[in-house]
Amino acid sequence: MPLENPQEMEGVLEIDIDRVANSRLPKTELKDIPFGRVFTDHMFIADCKKGEWENLRIIPFGHVPISPASPALHYGQTIFEGMKAYWGQNGDTLVFRPHDNWNRLNISAQRMALAKVPSEIFMKGLAALLNIDRAWIPTGPASSLYIRPFLFSADEYIGIRPSQNFTFMIITSPAGAYYAAPLRVKIETHYTRAVAGGTGFAKAAGNYGGAIYPSKLAQDQGYHQLLWTDAKKHAYIEESGTMNVMFVFEDTLVTPPLSDSILAGITRDSVLALARHWRWKVEERKISVKELISGIMKGTVKEAFGVGTAATIARIQCIGWEGKDYLLQNAEEKGLAGKIYDELEGIKRGILPDPFNWVVSM
Ligand code: COI
Repeated sequence: MPLENPQEMEGVLEIDIDRVANSRLPKTELKDIPFGRVFTDHMFIADCKKGEWENLRIIPFGHVPISPASPALHYGQTIFEGMKAYWGQNGDTLVFRPHDNWNRLNISAQRMALAKVPSEIFMKGLAALLNIDRAWIPTGPASSLYIRPFLFSADEYIGIRPSQNFTFMIITSPAGAYYAAPLRVKIETHYTRAVAGGTGFAKAAGNYGGAIYPSKLAQDQGYHQLLWTDAKKHAYIEESGTMNVMFVFEDTLVTPPLSDSILAGITRDSVLALARHWRWKVEERKISVKELISGIMKGTVKEAFGVGTAATIARIQCIGWEGKDYLLQNAEEKGLAGKIYDELEGIKRGILPDPFNWVVSM
């Protein structure tokens, strides 16, 4: 089935809707809501059986039946995305760059041998879910409705082979800031997140699952997150656990170039596009750990920050390396990171002009 063709999708696109009898919203506090713990009333599900997408439905948020023999459980054959929705100025629902997330989902799907999700199913499922649960979008300054699309193998087979059945779902979660204060990150010099030829560029569950133990070791030492380095020599900065990373060296915004082992972050792309639009000096190039540490010591590294959907723009105040902490002097100041944060937040909420047509009203 040529899945990208809307005419051929017409019959498939009927979405069955089963609404909750009583919304949990009146009993939910949307102010200062922590990230990732509260979920809206409904969720979207679509099944793919032997290449055909079917049974599109919105049902009450709840447990999902999955075969105990699913390759998603045994082999981590599952991928996800992260997006955010906001109230627009006219009371409409605004979503930031959903087509880019759809596109990346399918890049990840290819790498993990999962079925691609047609854009019509992704977009219509998203719009229908937001339409039903939009009252859950929080209004606080750093808050939004976090959207988590995910796709996994729904086969019942514990041999290794490409799966034939898949489930695509979207759940949504009202959330405040992922990181509340400037971060302490540790440069990882033993464990590895991703290798050339591996799955690091994909939003594959295993990239994150495998990072939890090394991150916990860093958290036990008082850091919030790791700064991952290349697998071969641990000599070059790659990305952080929940976000890409950027540095301001003197007057230049610098970030590691995309590769097999770095996620092509949509916030990363948005920040680079904005910086270039403003005619800042921008470099996508390798950054050695030595260059970074000596730059912090000399004062030529003016800012360090993470960029991601959940993290937004997260300032870094301290970088740990080989047992020593290196402090960024101006981490409390607004700087370029603050300017980018304000602009992106303004665009996402429909307060500032959107020269890139990133925002979709749903
Ligand atoms: C996101 O920023 O949307 C992510 O997926 C990060 C997540 C691991 C919390």
